[in-house]
Amino acid sequence: MSRARAASDLIIAPIREEDLPAVLAIEAATFSAPWTEEMFRWELEQAGTGLAWVARRGERVVGYLFTWVVAGEFHINNIAVAPAYRGQGIADALLKTGLGEAVGRGARVALLEVRESNAPARALYARWRFAVAGRRKRYYSHPTEDALLMRCEDLPGALARHRRRGDP
Ligand SMILES: CC(C)(COP(=O)(O)OP(=O)(O)OC[C@H]1O[C@@H](n2cnc3c(N)ncnc32)[C@H](O)[C@@H]1OP(=O)(O)O)[C@@H](O)C(=O)NCCC(=O)NCCS
Repeated sequence: MSRARAASDLIIAPIREEDLPAVLAIEAATFSAPWTEEMFRWELEQAGTGLAWVARRGERVVGYLFTWVVAGEFHINNIAVAPAYRGQGIADALLKTGLGEAVGRGARVALLEVRESNAPARALYARWRFAVAGRRKRYYSHPTEDALLMRCEDLPGALARHRRRGDP
């Protein structure tokens, strides 16, 4: 499917309680050490700090983004797209919404951790001007692997650049 078509029938919206089962299914299909339902619910209870969105195609939840905005920083805690829907610009659309909201709330920098071997995610973040800023030794399990800490030092600039590129 083309990016234009992906964008035309894709909706990014704040997560609702009833989206959780679909989120849990994507999480289980994606990660070797998936977040539990309790972890997702805890994130949703962080009123004022936690912000989370789902990507929907029709009624189907096809991706999600869980974040915090705290002390002027945008923390990306979890992002995934259902395997059958990858490569269609959905994660990009989720990040665009999340970064826009974070900038509106005063965030100027963003940070996240990513497995060193996760080339698709690292490429996604590089598109948004994230650069490697540190390493957390043996941060992940199943399998054990270092995390790279990535930071975007200029969120408003990254958003403006994305708009100039004319991406959906
Ligand atoms: C990483 C992930 C969220 C990307 O989602 P997606 O919807 O497929 O990504 P998009 O289609 O929006 O791609 C946006 C950009 O990301 C990069 N990218 C995405 N998938 C890629 C791949 N398989 N290989 C290389 N780059 C990739 C590209 O730069 C792409 O832009 P381009 O198509 O113009 O080159 C998805 O692969 C996923 O859910 N992975 C498993 C969960 C995960 O790793 N989460 C991140 C944990 S830190």
